[in-house]
Amino acid sequence: VQIETEPDGLVLVGKEDDIIKSQRITAKVNGREVVVFYREGRFYALDSRCYHEGGPLHLGEIEDINGQPCIICPWHKYTIALETGEGLYQGVNPLEPSPTPQWQSKGVKQRIYKVTVQNKNVYVSPPDLSVSFDSDYFAEKYKNEGDLAM
Ligand code: FES
Repeated sequence: VQIETEPDGLVLVGKEDDIIKSQRITAKVNGREVVVFYREGRFYALDSRCYHEGGPLHLGEIEDINGQPCIICPWHKYTIALETGEGLYQGVNPLEPSPTPQWQSKGVKQRIYKVTVQNKNVYVSPPDLSVSFDSDYFAEKYKNEGDLAM
């Protein structure tokens, strides 16, 4: 009989196979709503409430922008890089002779979480609250609410 031990302090969010199949799941991590995405061989975890006004990122579409997967918030189409939590926007440099919009970063706005896969289980590390991000406001606001409603 093999006894499986859970890695210390990590939160079990699901089975690897199940998340690969469904491509995304939501889970509670320290009371916060977190979304875990699976995309092209990798897992990504973020606060599920958008840093802008708390929109449901778990219902958004994923798009590749400059080679990095991003979630588009269904409420006002804010774009967030899955790997870094950076808010991205398209800006133009008015000093260019023929300005074309370029993707730029607003900095890390959405809290991301470390994902660990062990024994076919997927774990998320608890948040390090000594650092704060804009999405924390909505993570706290929706904390301990029962449903991941629209
Ligand atoms: Fe996400 Fe506004 S709430 S873009």
